[in-house]
Amino acid sequence: MDNKKHTDFLSIGTPAYILEEAKLLQNLEKIKYVQEQANVKVILALKAFALWKTFPLISKYLAGATASSLNEAQLITNHFKINKETLIKAHTYSPAYVPAEMEDLISKSSHITFNSLNQFQTYIDQCKGKVSCGLRVNPEWSSVETDLYNPSAKGSRLGEPIENLKEQLPSQIDGLHIHVLCESTSYDLEKLLAVFESKFSRYFHQLSWINLGGGHLMTQEDYDIEHLIKILKIFQSKYPHLEIILEPGSAVLWNVGMLTSTVLDIVENNNIKTAILDVSFTCHMPDTLEMPYRPNIVNASKEKIEQCIPYRLGGVSCLAGDYLEAYYFEKELNIGDTIIFKDMIHYTTVKTTMFNGVQHPSIYYYTSHKKLTKLRSFDFEDYEKRMC
Ligand SMILES: Cc1ncc(COP(=O)(O)O)c(C=O)c1O
Repeated sequence: MDNKKHTDFLSIGTPAYILEEAKLLQNLEKIKYVQEQANVKVILALKAFALWKTFPLISKYLAGATASSLNEAQLITNHFKINKETLIKAHTYSPAYVPAEMEDLISKSSHITFNSLNQFQTYIDQCKGKVSCGLRVNPEWSSVETDLYNPSAKGSRLGEPIENLKEQLPSQIDGLHIHVLCESTSYDLEKLLAVFESKFSRYFHQLSWINLGGGHLMTQEDYDIEHLIKILKIFQSKYPHLEIILEPGSAVLWNVGMLTSTVLDIVENNNIKTAILDVSFTCHMPDTLEMPYRPNIVNASKEKIEQCIPYRLGGVSCLAGDYLEAYYFEKELNIGDTIIFKDMIHYTTVKTTMFNGVQHPSIYYYTSHKKLTKLRSFDFEDYEKRMC
């Protein structure tokens, strides 16, 4: 990192997520290139990132955005606009819809994808003539090895497998949606398309769109963009009547920013040194514990280096497991040192307590006099404020 940038970033104090506009623009340019060359629609998956103050910029490059909840759809309506007059409606998909929210959700969506035929039957009358309806299907194939991120794992609740479908899809279904990739290559997508076609192409004649979900990491350095364009074009030439939609999240925000932190203390137990930071893995970088994955850190190695000094990195919450196994530093760490986690914008700010914009439960107090008192309920404004 250049010195001026480093000093600027630290002058604001820690902890801070810092999103770099120039890097975001680089990603957006690449994605726009794919969109134009392959003649596909690329939309932003809000589940990965919902800092809506950047939506005016992102909406200049991408064709729209996805929602998985009423909160996310509302955020798109309010902030993801081409201009004041031209509102963008959400491409909406949720594992199950909340009946009381459906009318509102339909009014904010251009596309509604159902996770099951049962959900489709429940809501099709409400949707008719207002939105384009789709069905998520499960190809029962994925290149993802971690079950937490594998929608095709055995017994998955996400999407109908082919065995649940009849000869024909219900006539009101305009599109199919698949999402089984995560940080994947174009070669994974090529394999997926082969499986998808072999199982589901018999339905393609009655559709007008296909949504290939997210997980296309097209902004990663060694991603083969030309190969991606090639396979999308081949698919299109076979089914020219189908509009192809991709809905990446990570790719849009890949490597566009960081999380800065400070060492608050260094403790030692059984010869293991832990630097306790003013950030928390469980609160601020949950994927580092859930995946689990090891983020890159400025001036530290994830791999063991003999002459370097190992420190576990400890979160500031009281959760026993809120730490990362040792990173290797060239010099001893001291209280007050800065630790910078790289690539910490996607799946961080969205992923704490309102992931996917899922409605936060209300909180009630049931008194010993058997009286229910509402302490707090949460609405869109709470979600909006959390996101920016
Ligand atoms: C249905 C759906 N679409 C898109 C995405 C975005 O995926 P990614 O951020 O890996 O591109 C996800 C991520 O979980 C998803 O579940």
